[in-house]
Amino acid sequence: MSLCLVANWKLNGSKEFNHQWALEFLRNFNGNNFSILGIAPASLYIDHLKTILTDCDIEIGSQNIDLEETGARTGEISASMIKELGCAFSIIGHSERRMLFHETNQMICQKLIQADNNSVIPILCIGESAEENQSNNTFNVLEQQIIEALENANELSALIIAYEPVWAIGSGKTPKPEEINSVHEMIKDVVQSRFPKIGLESVLYGGSVNFKNASSLFEQKNVDGALIGGASLDGREFALIANVFNELRV
Ligand code: PGA
Repeated sequence: MSLCLVANWKLNGSKEFNHQWALEFLRNFNGNNFSILGIAPASLYIDHLKTILTDCDIEIGSQNIDLEETGARTGEISASMIKELGCAFSIIGHSERRMLFHETNQMICQKLIQADNNSVIPILCIGESAEENQSNNTFNVLEQQIIEALENANELSALIIAYEPVWAIGSGKTPKPEEINSVHEMIKDVVQSRFPKIGLESVLYGGSVNFKNASSLFEQKNVDGALIGGASLDGREFALIANVFNELRV
């Protein structure tokens, strides 16, 4: 089983936060399969978090990587740098990066290749806007995002896709669990039929996942896990979500 529950801490955290989070998480998590769990802190704290979580093999990853390996690219970090710090994965193409930092599917494709070249598992984020959802364009939009992001990266040895409707992120709203299930089924079909050489490991759902709605999501056959923002900042809530996942899926 690969990564199933991934915490996206976004622009939050500090050394003190890392300590408190780990205490709360370890106090409340009642499983022992740590390797299905991942945390993506701000990259500055990857090393620090690793030293705190030495006794359990929770995977650590980054929230982004650059599309180049080296060069005159002030402020960027490369896949090989996060690999050296012991990262197992990187989130790539999150909707906040697409909107705030103007990332295109073509740039995202290059980042996927960088990750793969460095044996970092990419978590490719895709998702439709509220307008696209309301006009029943979800499937078309997602299919196009998948095809454009993968068409020049069609031999990735490992890939995780996170379906994150833009309107569900941080809003408290989610699609119905059955709708998410059918979107995930479509994503798996598209990747497997159009990119048979890509090792698609799992499809996660992201967008307002919390302890209350976790079981309704994890009960869905095609939901392999979740990418969690706000609720993951609370070590206790992340542990409780992981406990729900363990009861239903492990
Ligand atoms: P959220 O964020 O859980 O706070 O909605 C999810 C994400 O942006 O990955």
